[in-house]
Amino acid sequence: MLLHIAGVLDQDQVAEFRRVLDSADWIDGRETVGSQGAQVKRNEQLPDTSPLRELLGQRIQKALASNPLFHAAALPLRYLPPRFNRYSGGGTYGFHVDGSVMTVNLPGHALAQLRSDIACTVFLSEPDEYDGGELIVSDTYGEHEVKLPAGDAVVYPASSLHKVQPVTRGARVASFLWVQSLVRDEGQRRLLFELDTSIQTLTRSGADHAAVLTLTSVYHNLLRRWAET
Ligand code: NI
Repeated sequence: MLLHIAGVLDQDQVAEFRRVLDSADWIDGRETVGSQGAQVKRNEQLPDTSPLRELLGQRIQKALASNPLFHAAALPLRYLPPRFNRYSGGGTYGFHVDGSVMTVNLPGHALAQLRSDIACTVFLSEPDEYDGGELIVSDTYGEHEVKLPAGDAVVYPASSLHKVQPVTRGARVASFLWVQSLVRDEGQRRLLFELDTSIQTLTRSGADHAAVLTLTSVYHNLLRRWAET
């Protein structure tokens, strides 16, 4: 499931992020990938140990964690601390698959491993600031092109092949992160998401209370079956 989540950050927050990111020290993005990724990755990142990455990353994570749509779709168990990247001057990231098990090894974080179930990109440049830079996600239904307003996010299965098209004008600044979900299976997560959003719609429309209560019970009992903590 590929899901667009609008307004994770508001315009004031985006402007503040950009003010500090546009004057930050960026490094070659190949430092954080294996040899296969390094062959196709041409971008810049904030260093993992940068205090700015830590500070802004915490704010991104907090904004996502408090977003009801993100929560319903991702059912997050743990997060890899968000990173920040910038593509400009032809920068690109060819088709690749993200590592399946990642290690969190950062100052201030307990050493931990995370299964990357879900990838998330939060756009920090407006689409008219740059040419190219579309995120292309390939799944069994074909290729999906994503280029969103600043402050919006996309979540998609980390198991999918994906790439970022070359940026031929301007700069594409974004934050990205991986999430280990309570529910490992993509299909089960999608069923829970559809059930959850339908229950919310029924509740808002004043549907029969007992029927909504039964559906809510079904939701939680499915989650109880499928969640791994
Ligand atoms: Ni990737």
